[in-house]
Amino acid sequence: MPVPTVTKTFLITRFDPARDGAPVVREYQLDCDPMERVLTALNRIKWQQDGTLSYRRSCGHAVCGSCAMTIQGASRLACKTLVKDIAGDRIVVEPLKGFPVIKDLVVDMSHFYHNLRAVVPYLVNNGPKPAKERRQSPEEFDEFEDATKCILCGCCTSSCPSFWKNDSYLGPAALVKAWRFVGDSRDEAGSQRIDAVNGHDGVWRCHTIFNCKEACPKEIDIPAALSRLKRAAAWGRAAG
Ligand code: SF4
Ligand code: SF4
Ligand code: FES
Repeated sequence: MPVPTVTKTFLITRFDPARDGAPVVREYQLDCDPMERVLTALNRIKWQQDGTLSYRRSCGHAVCGSCAMTIQGASRLACKTLVKDIAGDRIVVEPLKGFPVIKDLVVDMSHFYHNLRAVVPYLVNNGPKPAKERRQSPEEFDEFEDATKCILCGCCTSSCPSFWKNDSYLGPAALVKAWRFVGDSRDEAGSQRIDAVNGHDGVWRCHTIFNCKEACPKEIDIPAALSRLKRAAAWGRAAG
């Protein structure tokens, strides 16, 4: 049976800061399977129509976080967005908002990783090495389990009005990572992280606007994680 196709016009923002004075929008027509992912469509545009188009991708399965971009005005993963999920004949593709553009849909994530490093994004435990494992009860794991799903795609941070106003704000992705370890009973660097998030550009810049929760492709309850982090910051204490 032939696969049904729909003709879509992709409106893709193109910009090479080394060469162009300003971004331009280029149009590409493509016959798509409605079940096709936007990432597959972009691959076909690049491979069949315009090899100069730049974007990031790797896993193709919503695991690596590299294909985050703005699709129809919202931050999404191109590999998790189906053509049928975008209403109308036009699919508008732009780089992630709030990040400097390197080329086309590729943005500079250096500041994002700088903010992430500020919250010490790894488990710290300098105690004696256990014979087998550092034990934790299911209830203790439940405290931060949701935050372990983060793939560092940046969709939340690029959707956050507080980050648009002030890119020194750590942003929801770094704060979710802070909570992932502050809430972990095995960790010992909680107070260092609390100091980082209690600062001028930390968790108190979050005004609970909820854009981040809608944008997260892993459906993490980001405002809930941030309110737990706020509580720990207000009390000046962490799990570990
Ligand atoms: S809830 Fe906080 S972090 Fe999330 S978008 Fe709103 S201000 Fe930003
Ligand atoms: S919290 Fe969600 S949206 Fe934010 S970086 Fe992690 S996976 Fe991406
Ligand atoms: S390509 Fe890895 S998340 Fe989309």
